[in-house]
Amino acid sequence: MKNSLIKYSLGAAALLMMSSNLMAQTPTVAPKAYPAGEVGKMVKLGEDIMMHTDTHPLTKDMVGNKLQCISCHIRGSDGKPGTAHGISTFIGTATAFPAYSKREKSVQTLQDRINNCFMRSMNGKRPIVDTKASVAMATYVTWLSEGMPMKMNPKMPCSPMNSDRWMHGAKHFAKIQKKATHANYVNGKKLYEAKCAMCHGRDGAGKGTFPPLWGQKNGKWLAYNTGAGMSKLNKGAAWVQSNMPKYQGGTLKDQAAADIMLYVDAQPHADFDLRKGLFPESKMGYYNSKVLKEKHTVRSNFKQFGLDIDTIRGDHKIK
Ligand code: HEC
Ligand code: HEC
Repeated sequence: MKNSLIKYSLGAAALLMMSSNLMAQTPTVAPKAYPAGEVGKMVKLGEDIMMHTDTHPLTKDMVGNKLQCISCHIRGSDGKPGTAHGISTFIGTATAFPAYSKREKSVQTLQDRINNCFMRSMNGKRPIVDTKASVAMATYVTWLSEGMPMKMNPKMPCSPMNSDRWMHGAKHFAKIQKKATHANYVNGKKLYEAKCAMCHGRDGAGKGTFPPLWGQKNGKWLAYNTGAGMSKLNKGAAWVQSNMPKYQGGTLKDQAAADIMLYVDAQPHADFDLRKGLFPESKMGYYNSKVLKEKHTVRSNFKQFGLDIDTIRGDHKIK
């Protein structure tokens, strides 16, 4: 009895030590040096694509807005895509793959995960797996996890640094958003204009290097579409609370983050139709998903939380 108690407490102490060691060892910046040779070149190419996704010759034709991967996978103090600590960091991402995705109802590879962001967050077309751009981005993301222990994620296709935060954040903000009224929308507009508009514009079109959040210019969409994580009232609020206003992540109260994203996601965003994001099968080959039809609009994204967009906005401006 005494013996097993000692064993138990020793075990617990060892576990504690192990986990704090792991935390201490977890690198939160990119490795210092690029790998040698061709692999290093691929890492650099992937990094470059992520910084200039909408203008890079290898990806511009697959992007339907004015965003780059770094618009949401924020650069850390080392200046590298996805090394900032907020939710949606790329640190640890590669250790989680292959991983199960509820959305695709299938086990996804890292390339799948990366390429799917093109159809949604980038409002464009899904790159073909194993093309240069696709391999380069996967190589870059894998490099960021060098030296970290592998642990495939059976629940969601994301980094161990993100999964708890997404799971908690999405649940928590779903509860808040389900209670939203027109008053929350009005409050969200007021807060947006006070805290966000100086960088993203009152019209949401972005300013200089500050990225757009909604709307069109010359008939072209500027921001993420209604299939993107950011367009979901709960996930958008979780992301914004963690990362915005820039340099002040973690400062918005729950209700403020919820109301601001209620306002932002109630503005015009492109409809999502999965089939339009995929190249014809003859060109693209196998699409690794059991879900082959999926459509969303601003209206349906609100309905998902039991909300009527007209009542929330107080007008009938969203189709
Ligand atoms: C408008 C914001 C936005 C843009 C732009 C964007 N993403 Fe994402 N990305 C997200 C969000 C939000 C998630 C997680 C939530 C979800 O999947 O619903 C995510 C998840 C990911 C993940 C999983 C990361 C993890 O470990 O949690 C990868 C990999 C990824 N994106 C790659 C990319 C790449 C590559 C690009 C550029 C081609 C890109 N994303 C552009 C918002 C964005
Ligand atoms: C000081 C300027 C600044 C302020 C203020 C600011 N942002 Fe941002 N925002 C940025 C920049 C720059 C990015 C691109 C990622 C990065 O580099 O941090 C970004 C990215 C974003 C994105 C993801 C990319 C996109 O275009 O969809 C969203 C959503 C967003 N901000 C929402 C907000 C909201 C909501 C507020 C107010 C609470 C806010 N931001 C305040 C500068 C700012």
